[in-house]
Amino acid sequence: MTPEHTTRTDKTGNSFDVGISCPEDVPSLLEMYRTFSPRPASQGLPPEDHETCQDWVKNLFAIGDNLLAWRGVRVIAHAALVPDISGKSGEFVIFVDKSERNLGIGTHLTRFTLERYRQLGFKSIWLTVSVTNYVASRLYRKVGFVYCDMESYERTMSITLN
Ligand SMILES: CC(C)(COP(=O)(O)OP(=O)(O)OC[C@H]1O[C@@H](n2cnc3c(N)ncnc32)[C@H](O)[C@@H]1OP(=O)(O)O)[C@@H](O)C(=O)NCCC(=O)NCCS
Repeated sequence: MTPEHTTRTDKTGNSFDVGISCPEDVPSLLEMYRTFSPRPASQGLPPEDHETCQDWVKNLFAIGDNLLAWRGVRVIAHAALVPDISGKSGEFVIFVDKSERNLGIGTHLTRFTLERYRQLGFKSIWLTVSVTNYVASRLYRKVGFVYCDMESYERTMSITLN
Protein backbone atom coordinates (compact mmCIF):
# COMPACT_ATOMS: atom_id res chain seq x y z
CA MET A 1 0.00 0.00 0.00
CA THR A 2 0.99 3.65 -0.40
CA PRO A 3 2.69 4.83 2.80
CA GLU A 4 0.63 7.23 4.89
CA HIS A 5 3.48 9.75 4.74
CA THR A 6 6.62 9.92 2.65
CA THR A 7 9.45 12.38 2.05
CA ARG A 8 10.09 13.84 -1.42
CA THR A 9 12.61 16.32 -2.84
CA ASP A 10 11.59 19.49 -4.66
CA LYS A 11 13.30 21.00 -7.72
CA THR A 12 15.69 22.99 -5.51
CA GLY A 13 16.82 19.88 -3.64
CA ASN A 14 14.88 20.65 -0.45
CA SER A 15 12.83 17.93 1.14
CA PHE A 16 9.15 18.03 2.02
CA ASP A 17 6.62 15.45 3.12
CA VAL A 18 3.47 14.26 1.40
CA GLY A 19 0.79 12.17 2.99
CA ILE A 20 -2.77 11.44 3.90
CA SER A 21 -4.31 13.99 6.20
CA CYS A 22 -6.41 13.55 9.31
CA PRO A 23 -8.96 15.91 10.92
CA GLU A 24 -6.21 17.27 13.23
CA ASP A 25 -4.55 18.79 10.13
CA VAL A 26 -7.51 21.10 9.42
CA PRO A 27 -6.21 24.11 11.45
CA SER A 28 -2.81 24.01 9.66
CA LEU A 29 -4.56 23.68 6.31
CA LEU A 30 -6.84 26.63 7.08
CA GLU A 31 -3.72 28.62 7.94
CA MET A 32 -2.40 27.92 4.42
CA TYR A 33 -5.70 29.10 2.93
CA ARG A 34 -5.78 32.20 5.18
CA THR A 35 -2.91 33.69 3.18
CA PHE A 36 -3.55 31.82 -0.09
CA SER A 37 -3.16 33.98 -3.18
CA PRO A 38 -4.91 34.63 -5.43
CA ARG A 39 -8.21 33.75 -3.77
CA PRO A 40 -10.00 32.43 -5.70
CA ALA A 41 -7.20 30.97 -7.81
CA SER A 42 -9.18 28.67 -10.05
CA GLN A 43 -12.86 28.07 -10.81
CA GLY A 44 -13.95 30.03 -7.73
CA LEU A 45 -11.68 28.08 -5.37
CA PRO A 46 -10.46 28.49 -2.73
CA PRO A 47 -13.40 30.72 -1.76
CA GLU A 48 -12.45 34.33 -1.12
CA ASP A 49 -14.54 34.72 2.03
CA HIS A 50 -12.79 33.11 5.02
CA GLU A 51 -15.89 31.51 6.52
CA THR A 52 -16.96 30.08 3.17
CA CYS A 53 -13.42 28.78 2.74
CA GLN A 54 -13.58 27.09 6.15
CA ASP A 55 -16.89 25.45 5.22
CA TRP A 56 -15.45 24.32 1.88
CA VAL A 57 -12.44 22.67 3.59
CA LYS A 58 -14.62 21.03 6.26
CA ASN A 59 -16.95 19.73 3.56
CA LEU A 60 -13.99 18.24 1.65
CA PHE A 61 -12.97 16.42 4.83
CA ALA A 62 -16.54 15.17 5.24
CA ILE A 63 -17.03 13.87 1.69
CA GLY A 64 -13.52 13.12 0.41
CA ASP A 65 -9.98 12.02 1.01
CA ASN A 66 -7.50 14.81 1.64
CA LEU A 67 -3.79 14.68 0.95
CA LEU A 68 -1.27 17.26 2.03
CA ALA A 69 2.31 18.39 1.56
CA TRP A 70 4.22 19.80 4.50
CA ARG A 71 7.50 21.60 5.10
CA GLY A 72 8.15 20.80 8.71
CA VAL A 73 4.83 21.48 10.40
CA ARG A 74 3.63 23.97 7.78
CA VAL A 75 1.05 22.78 5.24
CA ILE A 76 2.19 23.88 1.76
CA ALA A 77 -0.21 22.04 -0.54
CA HIS A 78 -3.62 20.37 -0.47
CA ALA A 79 -5.18 17.84 -2.82
CA ALA A 80 -8.60 16.25 -2.43
CA LEU A 81 -10.30 13.31 -4.07
CA VAL A 82 -14.07 13.17 -3.87
CA PRO A 83 -15.30 9.70 -4.85
CA ASP A 84 -18.21 9.33 -7.26
CA ILE A 85 -21.19 7.26 -6.21
CA SER A 86 -19.65 4.22 -7.96
CA GLY A 87 -16.73 4.29 -5.52
CA LYS A 88 -14.38 3.50 -8.40
CA SER A 89 -13.80 6.98 -9.74
CA GLY A 90 -13.52 10.44 -8.25
CA GLU A 91 -12.90 14.13 -8.81
CA PHE A 92 -9.47 15.59 -8.06
CA VAL A 93 -8.54 19.15 -6.99
CA ILE A 94 -5.17 20.56 -5.96
CA PHE A 95 -3.87 23.83 -4.49
CA VAL A 96 -0.23 24.71 -3.76
CA ASP A 97 0.77 27.67 -1.56
CA LYS A 98 1.98 30.55 -3.75
CA SER A 99 5.50 30.63 -2.29
CA GLU A 100 5.91 26.92 -3.08
CA ARG A 101 4.74 26.80 -6.69
CA ASN A 102 6.83 25.64 -9.65
CA LEU A 103 9.01 23.47 -7.42
CA GLY A 104 7.46 20.15 -8.41
CA ILE A 105 5.34 19.89 -5.25
CA GLY A 106 2.03 19.73 -7.12
CA THR A 107 3.45 17.00 -9.34
CA HIS A 108 4.62 14.90 -6.37
CA LEU A 109 1.32 15.33 -4.52
CA THR A 110 -0.68 14.40 -7.63
CA ARG A 111 1.46 11.31 -8.27
CA PHE A 112 1.10 10.29 -4.61
CA THR A 113 -2.69 10.60 -4.94
CA LEU A 114 -2.80 8.62 -8.20
CA GLU A 115 -0.72 5.82 -6.70
CA ARG A 116 -2.93 5.67 -3.61
CA TYR A 117 -6.10 5.38 -5.66
CA ARG A 118 -4.57 2.87 -8.05
CA GLN A 119 -3.82 0.68 -5.05
CA LEU A 120 -7.32 1.24 -3.66
CA GLY A 121 -8.72 -0.24 -6.88
CA PHE A 122 -10.09 2.95 -8.43
CA LYS A 123 -10.55 2.75 -12.21
CA SER A 124 -10.15 6.44 -13.05
CA ILE A 125 -9.81 9.97 -11.71
CA TRP A 126 -11.22 13.08 -13.37
CA LEU A 127 -11.01 16.83 -12.95
CA THR A 128 -11.94 20.08 -14.62
CA VAL A 129 -9.48 22.80 -15.56
CA SER A 130 -9.80 26.21 -17.14
CA VAL A 131 -8.32 26.48 -20.65
CA THR A 132 -6.12 29.35 -19.45
CA ASN A 133 -4.68 27.48 -16.46
CA TYR A 134 -1.50 26.53 -18.31
CA VAL A 135 0.45 25.43 -15.23
CA ALA A 136 -2.26 23.06 -14.00
CA SER A 137 -2.82 21.71 -17.53
CA ARG A 138 0.92 21.09 -17.91
CA LEU A 139 1.03 19.23 -14.59
CA TYR A 140 -2.02 17.09 -15.38
CA ARG A 141 -0.79 16.13 -18.87
CA LYS A 142 2.66 15.32 -17.50
CA VAL A 143 1.28 12.77 -15.01
CA GLY A 144 -1.00 11.18 -17.62
CA PHE A 145 -4.38 12.95 -17.60
CA VAL A 146 -5.93 13.35 -21.05
CA TYR A 147 -8.59 15.77 -22.27
CA CYS A 148 -12.12 14.38 -22.52
CA ASP A 149 -13.44 17.44 -24.35
CA MET A 150 -11.89 20.45 -26.06
CA GLU A 151 -14.92 22.66 -26.58
CA SER A 152 -15.69 24.70 -23.52
CA TYR A 153 -13.73 27.21 -21.45
CA GLU A 154 -13.59 24.63 -18.69
CA ARG A 155 -12.24 21.27 -19.80
CA THR A 156 -12.61 17.84 -18.28
CA MET A 157 -9.55 15.61 -18.06
CA SER A 158 -9.30 12.05 -16.83
CA ILE A 159 -6.77 9.33 -16.21
CA THR A 160 -7.33 5.59 -16.25
CA LEU A 161 -5.67 3.79 -13.37
CA ASN A 162 -4.38 0.30 -14.03
C1 LIG B 1 -1.62 24.41 -10.52
C2 LIG B 1 -0.76 24.14 -9.30
C3 LIG B 1 -1.48 23.16 -8.38
C4 LIG B 1 0.56 23.52 -9.76
O1 LIG B 1 1.35 23.17 -8.65
P1 LIG B 1 2.94 23.35 -8.70
O2 LIG B 1 3.51 22.73 -7.49
O3 LIG B 1 3.26 24.76 -8.95
O4 LIG B 1 3.28 22.47 -10.00
P2 LIG B 1 4.64 21.78 -10.43
O5 LIG B 1 5.78 22.66 -10.05
O6 LIG B 1 4.67 20.39 -9.92
O7 LIG B 1 4.45 21.70 -12.00
C5 LIG B 1 4.15 22.85 -12.75
C6 LIG B 1 4.54 22.62 -14.19
O8 LIG B 1 4.05 23.72 -14.99
C7 LIG B 1 5.14 24.28 -15.73
N1 LIG B 1 4.87 25.69 -15.95
C8 LIG B 1 5.16 26.76 -15.17
N2 LIG B 1 4.71 27.88 -15.72
C9 LIG B 1 4.10 27.53 -16.90
C10 LIG B 1 3.41 28.23 -17.92
N3 LIG B 1 3.26 29.55 -17.86
N4 LIG B 1 2.90 27.53 -18.96
C11 LIG B 1 3.02 26.19 -19.02
N5 LIG B 1 3.68 25.44 -18.08
C12 LIG B 1 4.20 26.13 -17.02
C13 LIG B 1 6.35 24.01 -14.87
O9 LIG B 1 7.55 24.11 -15.61
C14 LIG B 1 6.05 22.60 -14.40
O10 LIG B 1 6.28 21.63 -15.40
P3 LIG B 1 7.66 20.78 -15.43
O11 LIG B 1 7.81 20.16 -14.07
O12 LIG B 1 7.46 19.78 -16.50
O13 LIG B 1 8.78 21.76 -15.70
C15 LIG B 1 -0.43 25.47 -8.55
O14 LIG B 1 0.14 26.37 -9.46
C16 LIG B 1 -1.63 26.11 -7.89
O15 LIG B 1 -1.97 25.79 -6.76
N6 LIG B 1 -2.29 27.01 -8.62
C17 LIG B 1 -3.47 27.70 -8.10
C18 LIG B 1 -4.65 26.74 -7.92
C19 LIG B 1 -4.93 25.94 -9.20
O16 LIG B 1 -4.89 26.47 -10.31
N7 LIG B 1 -5.23 24.64 -8.98
C20 LIG B 1 -5.59 23.75 -10.06
C21 LIG B 1 -7.08 23.79 -10.24
S1 LIG B 1 -7.56 22.97 -11.71
